[in-house]
Amino acid sequence: MRCRKCGQKAVINMRHHKLALCKAHYLEWFVAQTERFIKKYHMFSADDRVLVAVSGGKDSLALWDVLWRLGYQADGLYIDLGIDGGFGYSSQSKALTQAFAEERGLTLHIVNVPAAYGASIPEMAKLTHRGKGKPCSVCGLVKRHEMNRIARDLGYNVLATGHNLDDEAAVLFGNTLTWAAGYLRRQGPVLPASPGLARKVKPLFRFYERETAAYALLRGIRYIYEECPFSVGAKSIYYKQLLNQLEAKRPGAKLQFYLGFLKAKEEGLFADAAEEVAEALHTCPVCGQPTTAPGKCAFCRLVERVEAAVGERGE
Ligand code: AMP
Ligand code: FES
Ligand code: ZN
Ligand code: ZN
Repeated sequence: MRCRKCGQKAVINMRHHKLALCKAHYLEWFVAQTERFIKKYHMFSADDRVLVAVSGGKDSLALWDVLWRLGYQADGLYIDLGIDGGFGYSSQSKALTQAFAEERGLTLHIVNVPAAYGASIPEMAKLTHRGKGKPCSVCGLVKRHEMNRIARDLGYNVLATGHNLDDEAAVLFGNTLTWAAGYLRRQGPVLPASPGLARKVKPLFRFYERETAAYALLRGIRYIYEECPFSVGAKSIYYKQLLNQLEAKRPGAKLQFYLGFLKAKEEGLFADAAEEVAEALHTCPVCGQPTTAPGKCAFCRLVERVEAAVGERGE
C-alpha cells in the first residue's frame, strides 16, 4: 500500500475514505481534518478559552496535542478519580498526563476527587449503594459536574472532550435501541452553552478509534493503554463490537450511521423533546449548576450521602 500523496510506504489505510497515507502525510491530514471539523461545526475560534478534559488516554491527549499544534488557547483538566484496579489506573494516567503537559509547557489543572469529597469514586459508589457494584454511573456524574465546575470557576467558555466516532456511534446505538428521545436530542458534536455551563465540543467525533490511536502512536505520545478496570463487560464495549462487525462488512457504515443521525436531527427529528428539557431545567441551590431534579442536583445529593456515610464510619 502506497501513500496517495507521495507514493511512499503507507502506514495507514482508511477504507471508508479510500485513503492510504504515509506517516508524515497522515499526521498532517489528521491535524488539518480536526481544524476543518472545528470550523465546520462552529466549535470555537482562537479567541475562545478552551478547557480540554484529559484522561491520560490516547484520544484526549491526541486532542490536546492537535489543539496545541494549531495554536488554540487550550488548557487541560485531569480529574483524579482514585481508581486503582490493581495497577494504579488513576495514578498512572495522571503521571502520563502531567508528563505530556510538562513536555509542551502546557497548563494542567488537577482535581483530586478523594481529597475534595472524602472518598474515591469506587468508595462513593459503595457508600451510597449506587450502580449495583459498578462505580460507572457515579463516575459519570462526578466527572460531568467537575468539568462544568472548573470551566465555570476558571472562566473557560468551551469544554472539549476526546470522544471519537466509535464512542459516539456506540452511545447513539444504545440511545436508539431504547428510543431515548431526550438523550438523542442532546447528543451531538456541539452542545451550546447555557446559563452557568460552558459550550461542550467533541472535535475528534469524526475519527475512528484506530485513527486517533494511530495519531497518538505516530506522534510518540505516551498514554495509558489499559482501559478503566470497571469498563469490563460494559454495554458500550459490546455495542462497539457489534458496530465493528458491521463496519468490517460495510466500510464507512459507522460514520454513515452517525452523520445520518446528525442530518435527521438538523431536519427536525426530536425537536419536540428539546422544548420539554428546556422547560424542566432549574438551578441547584447548592452548587448553582442547572439540573432537572427538583431541589438539589444529583451531584450535591450524592456528596451529602457520601459525607453522611463517611461520618458514620467515624472517619
Ligand atoms: P470516557 O467517558 O472515559 O470514554 O472519556 C470520554 C472523555 O472524557 C475523554 O476523552 C476525556 O476527554 C474525558 N475524560 C474521561 N476521564 C477523564 C478524567 N479522569 N479527567 C479528565 N477528563 C476525562
Ligand atoms: Fe469512571 Fe471507569 S468508572 S472511568
Ligand atoms: Zn506521503
Ligand atoms: Zn448541585
